[in-house]
Amino acid sequence: MALRVAVTGPTGEIGISTIEALEAHPDVTQILGMARRPFDPAERGWSKTVYRQGDILDRDAVDDLVSEADVVVHLAFIIMGTREESAKINLAGTRNVFEATVSGGPRRLVYTSSVAAYGYHSDNPVPITEDVPTRGTPAHYYSEQKAACEQVLAEVTAGSGLEVFVLRPCIVAGPKAPALAEAMPWNQLPDPVRRLVRAVPVLKPPMPDPGTPVQLVHHDDVASAVALAATTTTAPPGAYNIAGDGLLTFSDVGRALGARPVKVPHVAAVATSEVLARLPFVPSALEWLHAGRASTVMDTSKAKDELGWQPTFTAAETLAALAETVD
Ligand SMILES: NC(=O)c1ccc[n+]([C@@H]2O[C@H](COP(=O)([O-])OP(=O)(O)OC[C@H]3O[C@@H](n4cnc5c(N)ncnc54)[C@H](OP(=O)(O)O)[C@@H]3O)[C@@H](O)[C@H]2O)c1
Repeated sequence: MALRVAVTGPTGEIGISTIEALEAHPDVTQILGMARRPFDPAERGWSKTVYRQGDILDRDAVDDLVSEADVVVHLAFIIMGTREESAKINLAGTRNVFEATVSGGPRRLVYTSSVAAYGYHSDNPVPITEDVPTRGTPAHYYSEQKAACEQVLAEVTAGSGLEVFVLRPCIVAGPKAPALAEAMPWNQLPDPVRRLVRAVPVLKPPMPDPGTPVQLVHHDDVASAVALAATTTTAPPGAYNIAGDGLLTFSDVGRALGARPVKVPHVAAVATSEVLARLPFVPSALEWLHAGRASTVMDTSKAKDELGWQPTFTAAETLAALAETVD
């Protein structure tokens, strides 16, 4: 089999590892990557990858990209941004990619959705399986948009014959995916202050732990799931939950990333989330607090049994690998 794979967002935290996995796959002969900023695949030693600058909001650019591919991997997205800016790219841009893929020549689409598409609902089962509806949580822009994109995907691809693989990873981390560590407010302090805060125990900022369990997955394991979805000849299309084995706590994450864990009652996290949801204006960054209000632990047995995916890093090993990169 000689596969040409088009990838939107190949330069992101998942993108870099995904291209490495596709470069190493014997069935993949060419990779066409597109994102907005300049990037040189040769600097990474990649030999199958051709990169072009382009915006998924530009339908002609997306049409061009997918017209040359057998498989489209859609990763381009705005995760940390304002509600308004992210909505434009994530909704209109993602629709462009889905529509172009349906009307162009590719036979398969791999889309990285997220655990956030399920939403943070206390009546979701624990663990969450892929048949749970992706309702999203409207008060959190990212969750709302991830749920909306799955809805658009279902509408656009209905009856098309396209093989659609939807991956729903939990939080991705590791040495090449530092966004989780960078999002911690104390890691945004200027360098000498940040080092001081990390070195002196009494200065360590508190990290509230409402008892909600946390899953993590290593970027290389997400990449192997994307590569499997792009190349499999045996696994059925559909949705697959993706998470490393084992559960962590907010305390584990805080401790590893330089904070002082403080246990708080779970009702406090729910109450904070409910107050935030009622406020007329909430800074988009604060909307992420909704993620702590309910368990979003996913069952990954479908990815293991049907896709043949096996994570090589546990959640704890992923966190340790991330923590090693934080100085
Ligand atoms: N990271 C996680 O924890 C996580 C967890 C679950 C699911 N996911 C999902 O996995 C996918 C990839 O995430 P990631 O962590 O790799 O994101 P990322 O690190 O933020 O990278 C985003 C990529 O998209 C590109 N991009 C953004 N806007 C674009 C536009 N308008 N046109 C073309 N390219 C654009 C970026 O490059 P330019 O800025 O240069 O355009 C970059 O290559 C997303 O759908 C995300 O929601 C991520």
